[in-house]
Amino acid sequence: MSETPNTPSASLPGGTWTLGDLTVTRFGYGAMQLAGPGVMGPPADRDGALAVLREAAGLGISHVDTAGAYGPRVTNQLIREALHPYSESLHIVTKVGAVRDQQGGWVLARQPEDLRRAVHENLDDLGLDSLDVVNLRIGDAQGLRPGSLAEPFETLVDLQEQGLIRHLGVSNATAEQIAEAQTIAPIVCVQNMYNLAHRQDDELIGELADKGIAYVPFFPLGGFTPLQSTALSAVAARLDAAPMSVALAWLLRRSPNILLIPGTSSAAHLRENLAGAALPLSDEELAELDKIGH
Ligand SMILES: NC(=O)c1ccc[n+]([C@@H]2O[C@H](COP(=O)([O-])OP(=O)(O)OC[C@H]3O[C@@H](n4cnc5c(N)ncnc54)[C@H](OP(=O)(O)O)[C@@H]3O)[C@@H](O)[C@H]2O)c1
Repeated sequence: MSETPNTPSASLPGGTWTLGDLTVTRFGYGAMQLAGPGVMGPPADRDGALAVLREAAGLGISHVDTAGAYGPRVTNQLIREALHPYSESLHIVTKVGAVRDQQGGWVLARQPEDLRRAVHENLDDLGLDSLDVVNLRIGDAQGLRPGSLAEPFETLVDLQEQGLIRHLGVSNATAEQIAEAQTIAPIVCVQNMYNLAHRQDDELIGELADKGIAYVPFFPLGGFTPLQSTALSAVAARLDAAPMSVALAWLLRRSPNILLIPGTSSAAHLRENLAGAALPLSDEELAELDKIGH
């Protein structure tokens, strides 16, 4: 295990970004894949999962994305076991708004009491007095769910005023919901599905960048269905690189407010992804890749 640095490593690909008053490396880590199959239960290789988290911190990654619904609670407990007491530079971003049913389904849980319980469970499981960033997850497994977010978002603002949350964000949200949230309280990030092949938020990303709000794409590598594209494979072959590396390098170049949280349960993939995100892409290659999602 490498030492945990005290300052976020500006030398990681993409450098750093500031979420409110928290400096994070733009190359982060998504912890969802650490739970068992279907993001339920404990991992088959518990020691391996702990080692991946320690490797991420040791490499200087200072942004870890998680949720109480992963496992449920399993991923947060692994994070605590691997990394607590946390380095001052490490920032954990979590999500509330969904719970799991017995079959592993994702069920909306956005009543005020659901959100209060979720925030307290995150605090307990992570061993924290205050959560750095909490995203309100609005959509569900079927996709985005238009409609007002005022009531659940105001509940989180209340918890923020109590000192239990430092910064707020939204996830699986429409442009209208993101705009509505900002009329209620400042947000520091938006976490939506986006990658080379899913470009529905292209316009939104620029608008958020102008406001200093981070855009954090989930499924940057395609999630449960790995990204596959002839153009991606062609560029990767020319660069003698893995397609995953090209996909991450493209995201870092796409906009300065994009933060990466690729998920992996493998320390080797983590190192490969970190190195791959630094891949230089020419303007021609960027143009070629840009066509994939259009
Ligand atoms: N807001 C939301 O609703 C929401 C939804 C989904 C996810 N998220 C967050 O977003 C993060 C990222 O999403 P994700 O983890 O689902 O998907 P992802 O990052 O797009 O892809 C993860 C998958 O890619 C594989 N992978 C990673 N690196 C690889 C490599 N170098 N070569 C081959 N395969 C590789 C992983 O398998 P291995 O384990 O074998 O490496 C895993 O199956 C999650 O961890 C979670 O924190 C948020």
